[in-house]
Amino acid sequence: MSTRTGDILIVDDERSMREFLGIYLRREGYRIETAQGATEALAALKVRAFDVVVTDLRMPDGDGLTILNESKRLHPDTEVVVVTAFSTTETAIAAMKAGAHDYLTKPFKIDEVSLVIERAMEKRRLARENVALRDEIKGRYKLDRLLGKSPPMQRVFDVLRKVASTRTSVLLIGESGTGKELAARALHELSPRTDRPFVAVNCGAIPETLLESELFGHVKGSFTGATTDKQGLFEAANCGTLLLDEVADLPVAMQVKLLRVLQERKVKPVGGISEREVDVRIVAATNRDLEAEVEKATFRQDLFYRLNVIQIRLPPLRERREDLPLLVEHFVRKFSAEHGRPVVGAAPEVMSALMAYHFPGNVRELENMIERAVTLATSDYLAIDAFPNLAGLRAVAAGAATVEQIPDEGLDLEHHLEEYERTLLIKALERTSGNRTEAARLLRVSFRSMRYRLSKLGITGIDAGLDAGDRSPIPDS
Ligand SMILES: Nc1ncnc2c1ncn2[C@@H]1O[C@H](COP(=O)(O)OP(=O)(O)OP(=O)(O)O)[C@@H](O)[C@H]1O
Ligand SMILES: [Mg+2]
Repeated sequence: MSTRTGDILIVDDERSMREFLGIYLRREGYRIETAQGATEALAALKVRAFDVVVTDLRMPDGDGLTILNESKRLHPDTEVVVVTAFSTTETAIAAMKAGAHDYLTKPFKIDEVSLVIERAMEKRRLARENVALRDEIKGRYKLDRLLGKSPPMQRVFDVLRKVASTRTSVLLIGESGTGKELAARALHELSPRTDRPFVAVNCGAIPETLLESELFGHVKGSFTGATTDKQGLFEAANCGTLLLDEVADLPVAMQVKLLRVLQERKVKPVGGISEREVDVRIVAATNRDLEAEVEKATFRQDLFYRLNVIQIRLPPLRERREDLPLLVEHFVRKFSAEHGRPVVGAAPEVMSALMAYHFPGNVRELENMIERAVTLATSDYLAIDAFPNLAGLRAVAAGAATVEQIPDEGLDLEHHLEEYERTLLIKALERTSGNRTEAARLLRVSFRSMRYRLSKLGITGIDAGLDAGDRSPIPDS
Protein backbone atom coordinates (compact mmCIF):
# COMPACT_ATOMS: atom_id res chain seq x y z
CA MET A 1 0.00 0.00 0.00
CA SER A 2 2.80 2.37 0.71
CA THR A 3 6.52 2.87 0.16
CA ARG A 4 7.73 4.27 3.44
CA THR A 5 11.16 3.20 4.63
CA GLY A 6 13.00 3.24 7.92
CA ASP A 7 13.77 1.09 10.95
CA ILE A 8 11.47 1.23 13.94
CA LEU A 9 11.81 -0.36 17.38
CA ILE A 10 8.50 -0.89 19.16
CA VAL A 11 8.72 -1.30 22.93
CA ASP A 12 5.62 -2.36 24.87
CA ASP A 13 4.92 -4.94 27.53
CA GLU A 14 1.45 -5.52 26.12
CA ARG A 15 1.62 -8.08 23.41
CA SER A 16 -1.54 -6.94 21.63
CA MET A 17 -0.12 -3.42 21.41
CA ARG A 18 3.17 -4.65 19.90
CA GLU A 19 1.30 -6.75 17.39
CA PHE A 20 -1.13 -4.06 16.44
CA LEU A 21 1.56 -1.41 15.86
CA GLY A 22 3.91 -3.92 14.26
CA ILE A 23 1.41 -5.16 11.71
CA TYR A 24 0.17 -1.72 10.88
CA LEU A 25 3.57 -0.05 10.48
CA ARG A 26 5.01 -3.01 8.59
CA ARG A 27 2.18 -2.66 6.12
CA GLU A 28 3.17 0.99 5.68
CA GLY A 29 6.59 -0.19 4.54
CA TYR A 30 8.73 0.22 7.66
CA ARG A 31 11.05 -2.44 9.00
CA ILE A 32 10.01 -3.38 12.51
CA GLU A 33 11.66 -4.89 15.52
CA THR A 34 9.83 -5.35 18.82
CA ALA A 35 10.90 -5.55 22.44
CA GLN A 36 8.63 -6.70 25.24
CA GLY A 37 10.08 -4.53 27.92
CA ALA A 38 12.79 -2.10 28.94
CA THR A 39 15.51 -4.73 29.36
CA GLU A 40 15.00 -6.15 25.90
CA ALA A 41 14.81 -2.67 24.40
CA LEU A 42 18.07 -1.53 25.99
CA ALA A 43 19.77 -4.68 24.70
CA ALA A 44 18.48 -4.01 21.17
CA LEU A 45 19.69 -0.39 21.31
CA LYS A 46 23.16 -1.55 22.23
CA VAL A 47 23.27 -3.70 19.13
CA ARG A 48 22.15 -1.19 16.55
CA ALA A 49 20.58 2.15 15.77
CA PHE A 50 16.98 2.66 14.68
CA ASP A 51 15.49 5.65 12.90
CA VAL A 52 12.60 5.81 15.35
CA VAL A 53 11.91 4.17 18.71
CA VAL A 54 8.28 3.94 19.85
CA THR A 55 8.15 3.15 23.54
CA ASP A 56 5.50 2.71 26.18
CA LEU A 57 6.17 4.79 29.27
CA ARG A 58 5.20 2.37 32.03
CA MET A 59 6.43 -1.18 31.91
CA PRO A 60 6.96 -3.66 34.74
CA ASP A 61 10.72 -3.95 34.20
CA GLY A 62 11.50 -0.30 33.67
CA ASP A 63 10.57 3.14 32.61
CA GLY A 64 10.16 4.54 29.08
CA LEU A 65 12.13 7.59 30.14
CA THR A 66 15.16 5.39 30.77
CA ILE A 67 14.84 4.05 27.25
CA LEU A 68 14.54 7.60 25.95
CA ASN A 69 17.70 8.68 27.77
CA GLU A 70 19.67 5.60 26.75
CA SER A 71 18.60 5.98 23.16
CA LYS A 72 19.63 9.66 23.14
CA ARG A 73 22.95 8.74 24.68
CA LEU A 74 23.75 5.85 22.33
CA HIS A 75 22.20 7.24 19.15
CA PRO A 76 21.61 10.98 19.46
CA ASP A 77 19.98 11.16 16.00
CA THR A 78 17.33 8.53 16.66
CA GLU A 79 13.87 10.01 17.23
CA VAL A 80 11.87 8.68 20.15
CA VAL A 81 8.06 8.64 20.31
CA VAL A 82 6.52 7.82 23.69
CA VAL A 83 3.20 6.10 24.18
CA THR A 84 1.01 6.98 27.11
CA ALA A 85 -2.47 6.57 28.50
CA PHE A 86 -4.72 9.60 28.74
CA SER A 87 -4.31 9.73 32.47
CA THR A 88 -0.55 10.24 32.25
CA THR A 89 -0.13 13.09 29.78
CA GLU A 90 2.04 14.87 32.33
CA THR A 91 4.63 12.16 32.01
CA ALA A 92 4.38 12.54 28.25
CA ILE A 93 5.19 16.21 28.57
CA ALA A 94 8.16 15.39 30.79
CA ALA A 95 9.32 13.00 28.07
CA MET A 96 9.05 15.75 25.46
CA LYS A 97 11.18 17.95 27.66
CA ALA A 98 13.74 15.16 27.89
CA GLY A 99 14.04 15.09 24.12
CA ALA A 100 11.23 12.86 22.84
CA HIS A 101 10.06 13.79 19.37
CA ASP A 102 6.35 13.39 20.09
CA TYR A 103 3.86 11.29 22.04
CA LEU A 104 0.91 9.10 21.22
CA THR A 105 -2.01 8.61 23.58
CA LYS A 106 -3.84 5.35 23.97
CA PRO A 107 -6.18 4.41 22.48
CA PHE A 108 -4.60 5.43 19.15
CA LYS A 109 -6.26 6.91 16.18
CA ILE A 110 -4.57 5.10 13.35
CA ASP A 111 -4.05 8.24 11.23
CA GLU A 112 -2.33 9.85 14.14
CA VAL A 113 0.16 6.98 14.40
CA SER A 114 1.00 7.33 10.70
CA LEU A 115 1.45 11.03 10.93
CA VAL A 116 3.64 11.04 14.03
CA ILE A 117 5.93 8.33 12.66
CA GLU A 118 6.12 10.00 9.29
CA ARG A 119 7.13 13.30 10.87
CA ALA A 120 9.76 11.63 13.04
CA MET A 121 11.21 9.95 9.95
CA GLU A 122 11.23 13.25 8.09
CA LYS A 123 13.09 14.95 10.92
CA ARG A 124 15.59 12.14 10.93
CA ARG A 125 16.06 12.40 7.16
CA LEU A 126 16.71 16.16 7.38
CA ALA A 127 19.24 15.66 10.16
CA ARG A 128 21.03 13.10 8.03
CA GLU A 129 21.10 15.48 5.08
CA ASN A 130 22.58 18.17 7.29
CA VAL A 131 25.35 15.83 8.35
CA ALA A 132 26.01 14.94 4.73
CA LEU A 133 26.16 18.63 3.85
CA ARG A 134 28.52 19.35 6.73
CA ASP A 135 30.77 16.51 5.59
CA GLU A 136 30.70 17.83 2.05
CA ILE A 137 31.78 21.28 3.23
CA LYS A 138 34.51 19.70 5.31
CA GLY A 139 35.52 17.69 2.25
CA ARG A 140 35.98 20.86 0.25
CA TYR A 141 38.38 22.16 2.89
CA LYS A 142 40.50 19.05 2.74
CA LEU A 143 42.70 17.55 0.05
CA ASP A 144 44.16 14.26 1.21
CA ARG A 145 45.77 15.40 4.49
CA LEU A 146 46.08 19.08 3.55
CA LEU A 147 43.52 21.35 5.18
CA GLY A 148 42.62 24.84 4.07
CA LYS A 149 39.56 26.93 3.37
CA SER A 150 41.33 30.21 2.55
CA PRO A 151 41.19 31.32 -1.09
CA PRO A 152 44.96 30.87 -1.60
CA MET A 153 44.79 27.29 -0.28
CA GLN A 154 41.70 26.57 -2.35
CA ARG A 155 43.67 27.70 -5.40
CA VAL A 156 46.50 25.35 -4.41
CA PHE A 157 43.94 22.51 -4.14
CA ASP A 158 42.58 23.33 -7.61
CA VAL A 159 46.01 23.17 -9.24
CA LEU A 160 46.95 19.98 -7.40
CA ARG A 161 43.69 18.34 -8.54
CA LYS A 162 44.24 19.45 -12.11
CA VAL A 163 47.82 18.25 -12.50
CA ALA A 164 47.45 15.07 -10.43
CA SER A 165 46.42 12.95 -13.40
CA THR A 166 49.43 14.00 -15.50
CA ARG A 167 53.12 13.11 -15.43
CA THR A 168 54.19 16.75 -15.46
CA SER A 169 56.97 17.78 -13.10
CA VAL A 170 55.79 19.96 -10.25
CA LEU A 171 57.90 22.39 -8.23
CA LEU A 172 56.58 23.14 -4.75
CA ILE A 173 57.88 26.29 -3.16
CA GLY A 174 57.10 27.85 0.17
CA GLU A 175 58.55 28.65 3.55
CA SER A 176 59.46 25.92 5.98
CA GLY A 177 56.44 24.17 7.47
CA THR A 178 53.89 25.34 4.89
CA GLY A 179 52.94 21.82 3.83
CA LYS A 180 55.11 21.13 0.78
CA GLU A 181 55.62 17.50 1.67
CA LEU A 182 51.92 17.02 2.38
CA ALA A 183 51.14 18.63 -0.99
CA ALA A 184 53.53 16.22 -2.72
CA ARG A 185 51.81 13.29 -1.03
CA ALA A 186 48.37 14.63 -1.96
CA LEU A 187 49.49 14.87 -5.57
CA HIS A 188 50.56 11.24 -5.46
CA GLU A 189 47.38 10.07 -3.71
CA LEU A 190 45.17 11.81 -6.27
CA SER A 191 47.16 10.49 -9.21
CA PRO A 192 46.71 7.21 -11.09
CA ARG A 193 50.03 6.22 -9.47
CA THR A 194 48.49 6.03 -6.00
CA ASP A 195 48.97 2.26 -5.70
CA ARG A 196 52.64 2.59 -6.65
CA PRO A 197 55.41 3.86 -4.36
CA PHE A 198 55.82 7.42 -3.14
CA VAL A 199 59.50 7.94 -2.38
CA ALA A 200 60.86 11.08 -0.75
CA VAL A 201 64.56 11.91 -0.79
CA ASN A 202 66.03 14.78 1.16
CA CYS A 203 68.71 16.08 -1.18
CA GLY A 204 70.32 18.10 1.57
CA ALA A 205 70.67 15.25 4.05
CA ILE A 206 72.70 12.77 1.97
CA PRO A 207 76.48 13.26 1.70
CA GLU A 208 77.52 14.27 -1.78
CA THR A 209 79.63 11.12 -2.22
CA LEU A 210 76.65 8.85 -1.60
CA LEU A 211 73.99 10.81 -3.42
CA GLU A 212 74.55 9.34 -6.86
CA SER A 213 74.39 5.77 -5.61
CA GLU A 214 71.35 6.60 -3.46
CA LEU A 215 69.48 8.03 -6.41
CA PHE A 216 70.59 5.72 -9.21
CA GLY A 217 71.88 2.63 -7.36
CA HIS A 218 75.22 0.90 -7.78
CA VAL A 219 76.64 -2.43 -8.86
CA LYS A 220 78.63 -4.70 -6.64
CA GLY A 221 82.28 -3.73 -6.38
CA SER A 222 81.85 -0.29 -7.95
CA PHE A 223 83.40 1.35 -4.91
CA THR A 224 84.71 0.39 -1.49
CA GLY A 225 81.77 -0.77 0.55
CA ALA A 226 79.61 -1.66 -2.45
CA THR A 227 79.42 -5.32 -1.50
CA THR A 228 76.17 -6.04 -3.34
CA ASP A 229 74.13 -4.54 -6.14
CA LYS A 230 71.87 -1.83 -4.82
CA GLN A 231 68.73 -0.39 -6.32
CA GLY A 232 68.51 3.39 -6.38
CA LEU A 233 65.57 5.53 -5.30
CA PHE A 234 64.60 6.26 -8.90
CA GLU A 235 64.01 2.56 -9.49
CA ALA A 236 62.36 2.17 -6.10
CA ALA A 237 59.89 4.85 -7.19
CA ASN A 238 59.31 3.28 -10.59
CA CYS A 239 55.75 3.87 -11.84
CA GLY A 240 55.22 6.05 -8.76
CA THR A 241 56.24 9.48 -7.54
CA LEU A 242 59.67 10.71 -6.45
CA LEU A 243 59.88 13.76 -4.22
CA LEU A 244 63.19 15.57 -4.47
CA ASP A 245 62.98 17.49 -1.22
CA GLU A 246 65.27 20.46 -0.48
CA VAL A 247 66.22 20.33 -4.15
CA ALA A 248 68.26 23.55 -3.89
CA ASP A 249 70.81 21.61 -1.87
CA LEU A 250 71.72 19.35 -4.81
CA PRO A 251 75.42 19.70 -5.61
CA VAL A 252 75.98 21.08 -9.11
CA ALA A 253 77.62 17.85 -10.31
CA MET A 254 74.49 15.92 -9.33
CA GLN A 255 72.30 18.50 -11.00
CA VAL A 256 73.92 17.60 -14.33
CA LYS A 257 73.32 13.89 -13.80
CA LEU A 258 69.78 14.42 -12.64
CA LEU A 259 68.99 16.51 -15.69
CA ARG A 260 70.21 13.70 -17.93
CA VAL A 261 68.00 11.16 -16.17
CA LEU A 262 64.99 13.42 -16.46
CA GLN A 263 65.60 13.91 -20.16
CA GLU A 264 66.36 10.28 -21.05
CA ARG A 265 64.09 8.65 -18.46
CA LYS A 266 66.84 6.11 -17.93
CA VAL A 267 69.17 5.58 -14.99
CA LYS A 268 72.63 4.08 -14.98
CA PRO A 269 73.75 2.67 -11.62
CA VAL A 270 77.18 3.70 -10.35
CA GLY A 271 79.72 1.30 -11.86
CA GLY A 272 77.14 -0.20 -14.20
CA ILE A 273 77.23 -0.27 -17.97
CA SER A 274 73.63 -0.71 -19.01
CA GLU A 275 70.89 1.83 -18.46
CA ARG A 276 67.47 0.97 -17.08
CA GLU A 277 64.26 2.66 -18.07
CA VAL A 278 62.33 4.36 -15.29
CA ASP A 279 58.93 5.99 -15.24
CA VAL A 280 58.68 8.35 -12.31
CA ARG A 281 56.70 11.48 -11.67
CA ILE A 282 59.07 14.09 -10.30
CA VAL A 283 57.99 16.51 -7.62
CA ALA A 284 60.65 18.89 -6.32
CA ALA A 285 60.35 21.03 -3.22
CA THR A 286 62.33 23.87 -1.74
CA ASN A 287 62.01 26.68 0.74
CA ARG A 288 64.73 28.64 -1.02
CA ASP A 289 64.37 31.07 -3.89
CA LEU A 290 65.46 28.83 -6.78
CA GLU A 291 65.39 31.65 -9.31
CA ALA A 292 67.89 33.53 -7.18
CA GLU A 293 70.05 30.39 -7.00
CA VAL A 294 69.93 30.25 -10.78
CA GLU A 295 71.08 33.89 -10.91
CA LYS A 296 73.95 33.02 -8.59
CA ALA A 297 74.75 30.01 -10.77
CA THR A 298 74.46 27.64 -7.81
CA PHE A 299 71.48 26.00 -9.50
CA ARG A 300 71.49 25.05 -13.16
CA GLN A 301 69.01 26.93 -15.25
CA ASP A 302 68.26 23.97 -17.53
CA LEU A 303 67.41 21.78 -14.54
CA PHE A 304 65.30 24.56 -13.08
CA TYR A 305 63.24 24.69 -16.29
CA ARG A 306 62.80 20.90 -16.21
CA LEU A 307 61.52 20.94 -12.64
CA ASN A 308 59.54 24.14 -12.85
CA VAL A 309 56.94 23.03 -15.40
CA ILE A 310 54.15 23.63 -12.91
CA GLN A 311 55.03 25.77 -9.92
CA ILE A 312 52.87 25.70 -6.84
CA ARG A 313 53.50 28.10 -3.98
CA LEU A 314 52.32 27.07 -0.55
CA PRO A 315 51.42 30.37 1.12
CA PRO A 316 52.80 31.13 4.58
CA LEU A 317 50.26 30.83 7.38
CA ARG A 318 50.36 34.56 8.10
CA GLU A 319 48.88 35.14 4.64
CA ARG A 320 45.90 32.89 5.29
CA ARG A 321 44.74 33.40 8.84
CA GLU A 322 41.27 32.24 7.85
CA ASP A 323 42.73 28.72 7.98
CA LEU A 324 43.64 29.03 11.65
CA PRO A 325 40.32 27.95 13.21
CA LEU A 326 40.19 24.86 10.99
CA LEU A 327 43.83 23.94 11.70
CA VAL A 328 43.52 24.58 15.43
CA GLU A 329 40.42 22.39 15.61
CA HIS A 330 42.18 19.67 13.64
CA PHE A 331 45.32 19.65 15.78
CA VAL A 332 43.39 19.91 19.05
CA ARG A 333 41.33 16.89 18.07
CA LYS A 334 44.38 14.98 16.86
CA PHE A 335 46.51 15.55 19.95
CA SER A 336 43.76 15.27 22.53
CA ALA A 337 43.01 11.81 21.11
CA GLU A 338 46.68 10.88 20.90
CA HIS A 339 47.52 11.95 24.45
CA GLY A 340 44.16 11.04 25.93
CA ARG A 341 43.41 14.59 27.10
CA PRO A 342 39.84 15.88 27.26
CA VAL A 343 40.60 19.15 25.42
CA VAL A 344 37.88 20.42 23.10
CA GLY A 345 39.22 23.73 21.82
CA ALA A 346 41.19 26.90 22.35
CA ALA A 347 40.06 29.81 24.52
CA PRO A 348 39.00 32.94 22.60
CA GLU A 349 42.05 34.90 23.81
CA VAL A 350 44.26 32.17 22.41
CA MET A 351 42.53 32.45 19.05
CA SER A 352 42.99 36.22 18.92
CA ALA A 353 46.65 35.94 19.91
CA LEU A 354 47.14 33.30 17.19
CA MET A 355 45.46 35.62 14.70
CA ALA A 356 48.08 38.25 15.51
CA TYR A 357 51.10 35.93 15.59
CA HIS A 358 53.49 35.88 12.62
CA PHE A 359 54.25 32.11 12.55
CA PRO A 360 57.81 31.99 11.25
CA GLY A 361 57.54 28.18 11.35
CA ASN A 362 54.09 28.14 9.71
CA VAL A 363 51.79 25.12 10.14
CA ARG A 364 54.52 22.98 11.68
CA GLU A 365 55.01 25.61 14.38
CA LEU A 366 51.26 25.78 15.03
CA GLU A 367 51.12 21.99 15.22
CA ASN A 368 53.94 21.90 17.78
CA MET A 369 52.41 24.71 19.83
CA ILE A 370 49.08 22.92 20.02
CA GLU A 371 50.63 19.58 20.88
CA ARG A 372 52.57 21.13 23.74
CA ALA A 373 49.52 23.01 25.00
CA VAL A 374 47.32 19.91 24.85
CA THR A 375 49.86 17.92 26.84
CA LEU A 376 49.92 20.59 29.54
CA ALA A 377 46.20 21.32 29.48
CA THR A 378 44.34 21.41 32.76
CA SER A 379 40.89 22.25 31.39
CA ASP A 380 38.61 21.70 28.38
CA TYR A 381 39.86 24.80 26.61
CA LEU A 382 43.51 25.62 25.97
CA ALA A 383 44.46 28.70 27.95
CA ILE A 384 46.90 31.38 26.85
CA ASP A 385 49.38 30.36 29.58
CA ALA A 386 50.03 27.16 27.68
CA PHE A 387 51.49 29.19 24.78
CA PRO A 388 54.74 30.82 25.92
CA ASN A 389 55.55 32.28 22.51
CA LEU A 390 52.23 34.09 22.45
CA ALA A 391 52.98 35.80 25.75
CA GLY A 392 54.13 39.00 24.06
CA LEU A 393 50.89 39.19 22.14
CA ARG A 394 48.74 38.74 25.17
CA ALA A 395 48.50 42.37 26.23
CA VAL A 396 48.04 43.31 22.62
CA ALA A 397 45.37 40.70 22.14
CA ALA A 398 43.57 42.03 25.18
CA GLY A 399 43.49 45.38 23.42
CA ALA A 400 45.49 47.18 26.09
CA ALA A 401 47.88 49.79 24.76
CA THR A 402 50.42 48.98 27.41
CA VAL A 403 54.14 49.59 27.14
CA GLU A 404 55.55 46.11 27.42
CA GLN A 405 58.64 45.18 29.31
CA ILE A 406 61.59 44.70 27.04
CA PRO A 407 62.77 41.16 27.74
CA ASP A 408 66.39 40.56 28.77
CA GLU A 409 67.27 39.10 25.40
CA GLY A 410 65.84 42.18 23.66
CA LEU A 411 63.17 42.27 20.99
CA ASP A 412 62.75 42.86 17.28
CA LEU A 413 61.28 46.34 17.03
CA GLU A 414 60.17 46.11 13.40
CA HIS A 415 58.44 42.85 13.98
CA HIS A 416 56.85 44.07 17.18
CA LEU A 417 55.51 47.20 15.56
CA GLU A 418 54.13 45.16 12.71
CA GLU A 419 52.32 42.80 15.06
CA TYR A 420 51.00 45.74 17.03
CA GLU A 421 49.77 47.35 13.85
CA ARG A 422 48.09 44.12 12.86
CA THR A 423 46.31 43.89 16.19
CA LEU A 424 45.03 47.44 16.00
CA LEU A 425 43.84 46.94 12.44
CA ILE A 426 42.02 43.77 13.41
CA LYS A 427 40.49 45.45 16.47
CA ALA A 428 39.30 48.34 14.32
CA LEU A 429 37.78 45.98 11.77
CA GLU A 430 36.08 44.03 14.51
CA ARG A 431 34.65 47.22 15.96
CA THR A 432 33.26 48.27 12.56
CA SER A 433 32.01 44.79 11.61
CA GLY A 434 34.58 44.66 8.85
CA ASN A 435 33.79 48.01 7.24
CA ARG A 436 37.20 49.22 6.07
CA THR A 437 36.11 52.81 5.48
CA GLU A 438 34.90 53.17 9.06
CA ALA A 439 37.93 51.31 10.38
CA ALA A 440 40.20 53.76 8.51
CA ARG A 441 38.33 56.68 10.06
CA LEU A 442 38.67 55.13 13.50
CA LEU A 443 42.44 54.88 13.10
CA ARG A 444 42.69 58.28 11.39
CA VAL A 445 44.30 56.97 8.22
CA SER A 446 43.08 57.29 4.65
CA PHE A 447 41.14 54.43 3.11
CA ARG A 448 43.98 53.93 0.67
CA SER A 449 46.50 53.61 3.49
CA MET A 450 44.17 51.24 5.32
CA ARG A 451 43.88 49.02 2.29
CA TYR A 452 47.64 49.07 1.77
CA ARG A 453 48.34 48.11 5.37
CA LEU A 454 45.80 45.31 5.31
CA SER A 455 47.26 43.77 2.19
CA LYS A 456 50.84 44.25 3.45
CA LEU A 457 49.99 42.31 6.59
CA GLY A 458 47.98 39.73 4.70
CA ILE A 459 44.71 40.50 6.48
CA THR A 460 42.24 39.36 3.86
CA GLY A 461 39.18 38.71 5.96
CA ILE A 462 39.62 37.31 9.41
CA ASP A 463 36.36 35.55 9.03
CA ALA A 464 33.77 35.36 6.31
CA GLY A 465 31.68 38.03 7.95
CA LEU A 466 34.41 40.58 7.73
CA ASP A 467 34.40 41.26 4.03
CA ALA A 468 30.69 40.74 3.79
CA GLY A 469 30.15 43.62 6.18
CA ASP A 470 32.18 45.95 4.02
CA ARG A 471 29.81 48.34 2.39
CA SER A 472 32.57 50.73 1.48
CA PRO A 473 31.52 52.91 -1.45
CA ILE A 474 35.11 53.32 -2.65
CA PRO A 475 36.06 50.87 -5.40
CA ASP A 476 38.87 48.43 -4.74
CA SER A 477 41.24 49.36 -7.54
N1 LIG B 1 47.52 22.58 5.23
C1 LIG B 1 47.87 21.73 6.21
N2 LIG B 1 46.92 21.00 6.82
C2 LIG B 1 47.25 20.13 7.80
N3 LIG B 1 48.49 19.91 8.25
C3 LIG B 1 49.49 20.61 7.68
C4 LIG B 1 49.22 21.55 6.63
N4 LIG B 1 50.40 22.09 6.25
C5 LIG B 1 51.34 21.54 7.01
N5 LIG B 1 50.81 20.64 7.87
C6 LIG B 1 51.56 19.87 8.89
O1 LIG B 1 52.66 20.68 9.26
C7 LIG B 1 53.85 19.91 9.29
C8 LIG B 1 54.84 20.43 8.27
O2 LIG B 1 54.38 20.15 6.96
P1 LIG B 1 55.37 19.70 5.78
O3 LIG B 1 56.40 18.75 6.30
O4 LIG B 1 54.55 19.25 4.63
O5 LIG B 1 56.05 21.11 5.49
P2 LIG B 1 57.21 21.50 4.48
O6 LIG B 1 56.69 22.63 3.69
O7 LIG B 1 57.66 20.29 3.76
O8 LIG B 1 58.33 22.05 5.49
P3 LIG B 1 59.94 22.07 5.32
O9 LIG B 1 60.25 23.09 4.25
O10 LIG B 1 60.40 22.50 6.66
O11 LIG B 1 60.35 20.69 4.95
C9 LIG B 1 53.45 18.47 9.05
O12 LIG B 1 53.29 17.82 10.28
C10 LIG B 1 52.13 18.59 8.33
O13 LIG B 1 51.33 17.48 8.63
MG1 LIG C 1 59.52 19.30 3.83
